[in-house]
Amino acid sequence: MAPPTDSYVLVAGGAGYIGSHTVLELVSAGYKVVVVDNLCNSSEESIIRVRELTNTPDIPLVKLDLRDAAGLDKVFTEYKVKSVIHFAGLKAVGESTKIPLEYYDANVSGAITLLKAMAKHSVPEFVFSSSATVYGDATRFPNMIPIPEECPTGPTSPYGHTKLIIEEILEDTAAADPNLKVAVLRYFNPIGAHPSGRIGEDPRGIPNNLLPYVAQVAVGRRPQLQVFGNDYEGSPDGTPIRDYIHVVDLAQGHLAALAKLDSVKGENGEGFLRAWNLGSGKGSTVLQIISSFEKATGQKIPFEIVGRRKGDVLDLTAKPDRANTELNWKVKLSVEDACRDLWKWTTENPWGYDGKPE
Ligand code: NAD
Ligand code: WQD
Repeated sequence: MAPPTDSYVLVAGGAGYIGSHTVLELVSAGYKVVVVDNLCNSSEESIIRVRELTNTPDIPLVKLDLRDAAGLDKVFTEYKVKSVIHFAGLKAVGESTKIPLEYYDANVSGAITLLKAMAKHSVPEFVFSSSATVYGDATRFPNMIPIPEECPTGPTSPYGHTKLIIEEILEDTAAADPNLKVAVLRYFNPIGAHPSGRIGEDPRGIPNNLLPYVAQVAVGRRPQLQVFGNDYEGSPDGTPIRDYIHVVDLAQGHLAALAKLDSVKGENGEGFLRAWNLGSGKGSTVLQIISSFEKATGQKIPFEIVGRRKGDVLDLTAKPDRANTELNWKVKLSVEDACRDLWKWTTENPWGYDGKPE
């Protein structure tokens, strides 16, 4: 189905890492996009670069906190929106244990305010950035690795709780609103950058995630990587297993979800809701990732093995069959592709979007 030209996709959190890559894919496919972001963890520069890359100078960026109901109402009044993709929120697992109320407020209150504005303006389609973190430790069940969507949930951090609570709010809201259609996308571990090297992940402060840390070691911003534990039983080399997915593949998953929502309708007086895992189905250990990065970039990554990080689990590998068949989506790019693209982004923007701090 061709993208509509008389309506917009509102991308909440569209200036962030996954959001900016998704805006780029949407605009390249012919969608009209309006971005809403308070820029608390991103820079306007990402959208400036998406405008350049797509040769589309008029992608609007509205600087707004999602909890600002009056501001959101204005955006929905100004732009005729058919679909919302909701990336906006706080995402650091460790930080969420220190400031849980900030996480519940930003993530849960933000989603509720957005859903209320959508209901008021009769916006029918909602795509939600959920996370594999909702499964918690799936190895506690026999036969749940790789993880299917039917795996019982059980998040173990305030951040993970916010994602599951929002999923539950969406279930209740879709059950009550026959016009609402919801795609819940559970991402595994997004990595890499756009192959142009113009947009990528730009973490503030010390990176929490593996690949941004590896890239900062390679570019000389940090002396060495700490590998958090090599005593995980069940891993080929003792380090934890994750399902790393190129951010461009992940971004395309959102277009597949929008196409799906266009083709379905609710039944029995209820709206539609379905969850899909977005992962590759292939697990890599931390040491395998280091080796893939070294192979793809020619850079040596010095590392030391230290103790386990609290909250880490042995294996989070997706069973992506449902997305493969129902969304007609699957990953096309490899971990090596992601490492190569991450390296281009890092070498061409060693200090991210805003340059080296004074
Ligand atoms: P990100 O921090 O780069 O992007 C989030 C964006 O939302 C940022 O631009 C930020 O400024 C904006 N934002 C935050 N709170 C806001 C608010 N109250 N109002 C308006 N804007 C706000 O993160 P990302 O990695 O691109 O993740 C996007 C989404 O995907 C998040 O919801 C995250 O929880 C989810 N997710 C991320 C990962 C991952 O590993 N990156 C994995 C699974 C799920
Ligand atoms: C990957 C592996 C670490 C850093 C997180 C969130 C999850 C989702 C994706 C949002 C683990 C190891 C890491 C380092 C290391 N995000 N590691 N040294 O923890 O799988 O998932 O991001 O929803 O919710 O929890 O990703 O990149 O932090 O870690 O050894 O300096 O790398 O122990 O085994 P994680 P990660």
